[in-house]
Amino acid sequence: MGFPPISSLSFILFLFHFHSTISSSHFCAPHQSLSLLQFKDSFSINSSASVRCQHPKTESWKEGTDCCLWDGVTCDMKTGHVTGLDLACSMLYGTLHSNSTLFSLHHLQKLDLSDNHFNFSHISSRFGHFSNLTLLNLNFSVFAGQVPSEITHLSKLVSLDLSDNDDLSLEPSSLGNLTQLTSLDLSHNDFSGQISSSLGNLTHLTSLDLSHNNFSGQILSSLGNLPHLTSLDLSHNNFSGQIPSSLGNLTQLTSLDLSGNYFSGQIPSSLGNLTQLTSLDLSFNNFSGQIPSSLGNLPHLTSLYLIGNNFSGQIPSSLGNLPHLTSLYLSGNNFSGQIPSSLGNLPHLTSLYLSYNKLMGQVPDSFGSLVNLSYLILSNNQLVGPIHSQLNTLSNLRDLFLYGNLFNGTIPSFLFALPSLQYLDLHNNNFIGNVSELQHDSLRFLDLSNNHLRGPIPSSIFKLENLTTLILASNSNLTGEIPSSICKLTYLQVLDLSNNSLSGSVPQCLGNFSSMLSVLHLGMNNLQGTIPSTFSKDNSLEYLNLNGNELEGKISSSIINCTMLQVIDLGNNKIEDTFPYFLETLPHLQILVLKSNKLQGFVKGSTAYKSFSKLRIFDISHNNFSGPLPTGYFNSLEAMMTSDQNMIYMSATNYTGYVYSIEMTWKGVEIEFTKIRSTIRVLDLSNNNFTGEIPKVIGKLKALQQLNLSHNSLTGHIQSSLGNLTNLESLDLSSNLLTGRIPTQLGGLTFLAILNLSHNQLEGPIPSGQQFNTFDASSFEGNMGLCGSQVPKKCFGDEAPSLQPSSFDEGDDLSLFGEGFGWKAVTMGYGCGFVFGVVTGYVVFRTKKPSWFLRMVENKWNLKNRKTKKNAGRYGARRN
Ligand SMILES: *[C@@H]1O[C@H](CO)[C@@H](O)[C@H](O)[C@H]1NC(C)=O
Ligand SMILES: *[C@@H]1O[C@H](CO)[C@@H](O)[C@H](O)[C@H]1NC(C)=O
Ligand SMILES: *[C@@H]1O[C@H](CO)[C@@H](O)[C@H](O)[C@H]1NC(C)=O
Ligand SMILES: *[C@@H]1O[C@H](CO)[C@@H](O)[C@H](O)[C@H]1NC(C)=O
Ligand SMILES: *[C@@H]1O[C@H](CO)[C@@H](O)[C@H](O)[C@H]1NC(C)=O
Ligand SMILES: *[C@@H]1O[C@H](CO)[C@@H](O)[C@H](O)[C@H]1NC(C)=O
Ligand SMILES: *[C@@H]1O[C@H](CO)[C@@H](O)[C@H](O)[C@H]1NC(C)=O
Ligand SMILES: *[C@@H]1O[C@H](CO)[C@@H](O)[C@H](O)[C@H]1NC(C)=O
Ligand SMILES: *[C@@H]1O[C@H](CO)[C@@H](O)[C@H](O)[C@H]1NC(C)=O
Ligand SMILES: *[C@@H]1O[C@H](CO)[C@@H](O)[C@H](O)[C@H]1NC(C)=O
Repeated sequence: MGFPPISSLSFILFLFHFHSTISSSHFCAPHQSLSLLQFKDSFSINSSASVRCQHPKTESWKEGTDCCLWDGVTCDMKTGHVTGLDLACSMLYGTLHSNSTLFSLHHLQKLDLSDNHFNFSHISSRFGHFSNLTLLNLNFSVFAGQVPSEITHLSKLVSLDLSDNDDLSLEPSSLGNLTQLTSLDLSHNDFSGQISSSLGNLTHLTSLDLSHNNFSGQILSSLGNLPHLTSLDLSHNNFSGQIPSSLGNLTQLTSLDLSGNYFSGQIPSSLGNLTQLTSLDLSFNNFSGQIPSSLGNLPHLTSLYLIGNNFSGQIPSSLGNLPHLTSLYLSGNNFSGQIPSSLGNLPHLTSLYLSYNKLMGQVPDSFGSLVNLSYLILSNNQLVGPIHSQLNTLSNLRDLFLYGNLFNGTIPSFLFALPSLQYLDLHNNNFIGNVSELQHDSLRFLDLSNNHLRGPIPSSIFKLENLTTLILASNSNLTGEIPSSICKLTYLQVLDLSNNSLSGSVPQCLGNFSSMLSVLHLGMNNLQGTIPSTFSKDNSLEYLNLNGNELEGKISSSIINCTMLQVIDLGNNKIEDTFPYFLETLPHLQILVLKSNKLQGFVKGSTAYKSFSKLRIFDISHNNFSGPLPTGYFNSLEAMMTSDQNMIYMSATNYTGYVYSIEMTWKGVEIEFTKIRSTIRVLDLSNNNFTGEIPKVIGKLKALQQLNLSHNSLTGHIQSSLGNLTNLESLDLSSNLLTGRIPTQLGGLTFLAILNLSHNQLEGPIPSGQQFNTFDASSFEGNMGLCGSQVPKKCFGDEAPSLQPSSFDEGDDLSLFGEGFGWKAVTMGYGCGFVFGVVTGYVVFRTKKPSWFLRMVENKWNLKNRKTKKNAGRYGARRN
């Protein structure tokens, strides 16, 4: 039989230890060594199992050596019991089963398994059997599931850390028995439910972190019973209700974080009793009312974060009494009144965020004392006045954001001399005058757009080696040329000089200089010459706008090297070329505007697979294109076939987040859209020489909001398939040679706000219906044959025009009847006397196409409109 293997091994180990105790006071019981070695063997060592630090302690564990000397193992000197196991960052990977030999180490007092990968093990109930455990740290070690209630039997626990395990859950009330706890960290898990008043039993707690879970309900006043608490973090949960004023009893608190919840009501003034506080964060809640001036009593406060609430009233001047304050974040509230000049008394202040409030008046002169200030963020208020020299002492200023105010006067030259300035954003103000030269080259971001600046762009700007963003748009009177030295700015990502009076040529080097350039907007200037013709590979250009200049020549085919392009706007120039088919293959192109140039020739459409399939705006109006409409494209414009429910604004996808703008004719008016919703769908082929009929496939472009085919030489009937374009808000077919009747299906376009069918050769009654009744004569004028209430010519007879037929020809798809059910079938149905309730008759038209005839169709759509008999059918349609 022999000994069982374990016994024999124990025996050998026993001998070893017997021997070793002679020379050492350590004594590791053999069964402990064995347990530890088996524990070690149940995991693999994997370098990706430990993320924050790496120290594979179990590698030093060797059979036959004293386990008390092993890395991470601590023994009781007298008894030799293993009392501590610290395996943090040990790169252990594998499941911790409940039969693990770990649980035979009964004498453990401290167990740290943090930052390993236990592969979603459940926390075994056997953890509850370590009756003398004082410290348990399972932080960031990939445990999952319900925490067993046996954990609450660990009545000697002083420190419990279950944080960062993503989806642990437990019954929070169960913790009330762990009365020795001084530190409890459950953060970054999936804990939910209310925290019970039993937490108030944990009277020794000094640190409580429940952040980043789904806890809900109110915080109970019993938390005020924890007199030793120094740190309380309840951030990023679903807590609601008011802050109990008993929190003001926690006078040892140094850090209080309630951010990212649904707390409401006022801040209790008792928080002013928390005189040890260094950090108070109440951001992103629904707090309202005034800030209690008692917060000015917190002598050690270094950070006060109140961003994103509904606080109102004045900023209390008592905040100027906080001598150690370094960060004051009050952005995104409803603060009004003036900025208290007492804030200038905060000598250590480095960050001051007052943006997105309703602050008025001037920047206090006292701000000149804030010599340590790095971030001064005052944007989107109603601040006024010139910037006085008060700020010229701020030699540490890194970010200055004053945009969206009413600042006026010139931009003082000392701003451009601040030695540390990297981000300067003054857009949307009333600044006037010239822009000064920069004295330092630290600047990375400059936005002066939407002011009244004039004169040349200072040449020093084009020498800023780290410049990533230059936006000087919409200053109207900025003049001068764009020097080709701009191409030395290798970090430039956004260049927007639009809406100015810049002259000279577009530097050719812009096509190939910076692989980082993502936005190039030089639109609405007086630039001459040609479009850069040497766009090279591997560029990042997403937005190219040269609209509204005097550019000549051709569209360079090297643009196809710009594979990231989403927007090309070359409209309103003097470009002489044929249609640039090569653009079809740009895989991300969403907006193509070539309007008002001298482009000519046929637009054949679709020379490639998935041509223009992402295009949302296609505007080639006001050119000299001829031949038939580009039917091929109508089949491939997939983005125009499906509506986009995303109400986001189109912007650069890189981290600049630059929001695209575009000049467009919208419902007949030329507008600059400073933001474009990604839902937009526009097709504008107007003012060319397109001939032939409107192809029925246009009815596929169901997501179109604006369709303009006006001012061409189109013939034939208006397709009833246009009735499929149910998102249309504007339809302009005016000034063509269209004949026949207006299809009743157009009456179903419920969003249609603009309709222009004027100056064609249309005949018959104008359909009635909710939408059509809102259009006046100008929509229909210049069509001799039309009759109806909107035009001088009234219809005769007593037929309801809504019962009037749509006009079909053989090319029509009769989509009302479903696929493959052509007009011949309808006629047959009529012969049988029963098809879809169709009531028919036909009238031969007196048109250029004598073969045309019209079927009277009554179907379930226009049956609904039977009662509207205002206009009678002129052509004597008969109902059988
Ligand atoms: C421990 O339990 C797991 C799963 O229950 C099992 O796969 C494993 O073989 C067990 N190990 C030992 C040593 O019993
Ligand atoms: C727990 O600690 C007590 C007191 O120190 C001791 O008497 C007892 O033996 C310990 N129990 C274990 C399992 O180590
Ligand atoms: C808390 O301890 C009491 C008494 O020791 C016990 O009756 C109760 O069941 C414990 N509660 C929990 C949730 O463990
Ligand atoms: C914990 O607190 C609850 C409610 O405050 C109380 O009823 C209970 O007796 C307390 N339990 C212990 C073990 O102190
Ligand atoms: C806690 O605060 C409340 C209200 O602020 C007060 O009535 C109570 O006496 C305080 N309790 C302790 C223990 O300080
Ligand atoms: C705590 O704050 C309240 C309200 O501000 C105040 O009445 C009370 O005197 C303060 N208590 C202490 C001990 O400072
Ligand atoms: C600036 O605006 C204020 C208030 O609107 C006005 O009183 C002042 O004259 C303006 N100053 C300049 C230089 O335009
Ligand atoms: C440009 O950026 C680099 C890297 O951040 C920095 O070391 C360098 O000093 C900057 N140059 C200037 C002129 O600020
Ligand atoms: C541009 O300058 C002209 C002449 O100085 C002036 O009349 C005009 O108002 C200025 N435009 C803007 C937008 O400041
Ligand atoms: C694309 O760029 C490469 C250089 O990067 C150039 O050689 C090539 O001619 C360009 N393609 C076109 C179509 O211009």
